Amino acid sequence: MNKLSFDLSAYLKENKSLVESCLEKILGQLDPNLELVQAMGHSLMAGGKRIRPILGLAAAKACGKNILTALPACCAIEMIHTYSLIHDDLPAMDDDDLRRGLPTCHKKFSEATAILAGDGLLTHAFHVLTRPESLFEFYPDKSILLELVGRISDAAGVNGMVEGQMLDMQALSIAGKNGEKNGWNKERLLEHLKKIHGLKTGRMICVSVEAGALSVEAEPQQLACLMNYADNIGLAFQVMDDILNVEGDPEIMGKAIGSDLLHDKMTFPAILGLDKSKDYASGLIETSLTAIEGFDKNADPLRAIAQYIIDRDR
Ligand code: IPE
Ligand code: IPE
Ligand code: MG
Ligand code: MG
Repeated sequence: MNKLSFDLSAYLKENKSLVESCLEKILGQLDPNLELVQAMGHSLMAGGKRIRPILGLAAAKACGKNILTALPACCAIEMIHTYSLIHDDLPAMDDDDLRRGLPTCHKKFSEATAILAGDGLLTHAFHVLTRPESLFEFYPDKSILLELVGRISDAAGVNGMVEGQMLDMQALSIAGKNGEKNGWNKERLLEHLKKIHGLKTGRMICVSVEAGALSVEAEPQQLACLMNYADNIGLAFQVMDDILNVEGDPEIMGKAIGSDLLHDKMTFPAILGLDKSKDYASGLIETSLTAIEGFDKNADPLRAIAQYIIDRDR
């Protein structure tokens, strides 16, 4: 694709503000005097990239229908993602102080409040998805909404993100950054790390694309190609997150760097080194682009986002 033919930064900006206006509306229906709601809002409105909901909207566009129908699922996914970040930052997990350029939820409020704010976002996401009438002008039929609940809860839960986070924590004790410990050779470490990344990050990215396409009633064949695209960008996204934790600029990213090394986390750069990790991520993006070759120019946002995933600095 001719990179100049599509203005990705304008596309990201426009869709980020569309998503954020919906998120504000969702929060606006809750009691602003509650500390719980303030803590949820602190993290939800702190200004992330909104890449998951934007992917959902881009997938809807690729299927050529009214993209606004995808907004309920996209917002629910961003709420679930934000909950996962709040819990990921807790002292019992990654113990981070900065997120999206602001103090982490437990630093700003308290640990207990942060746990509950995460619970609140996760639970309310499914409320929003099943009761979209008062929030959205367009939304899918009830039968599709039910299917979305099934797929999103699967991706976020024990078959997806939560188990990925569990394996990420357990990886601390099975192998350190130097690999080759306790019978874990490089190949075995890499296979295991792909599994962790696929679950903790890939599944939520994949379901973002899936949910956007399903919301606009994509054909099964379109869905299969989009899922192949999404599997590859999902893994690439976390490989880049690992790379940025080594060489990113914390000012730009709004979160700390160097923490993976400090905590001896199992990451791609720790196992493969930076250069090979970058090559690996590039290969995944090429594969993702091949998967959607059959789509017309309505898939250009998906193509540009795939490239952005490895070019990004935040
Ligand atoms: C960070 O996600 C956590 C991962 C799953 C890698 P993002 O990089 O999408 O973070 P935000 O949403 O932009 O803050
Ligand atoms: C976060 O992974 C994954 C989830 C929140 C599910 P990381 O712990 O690697 O992400 P950052 O670097 O803190 O954003
Ligand atoms: Mg983590
Ligand atoms: Mg973390």
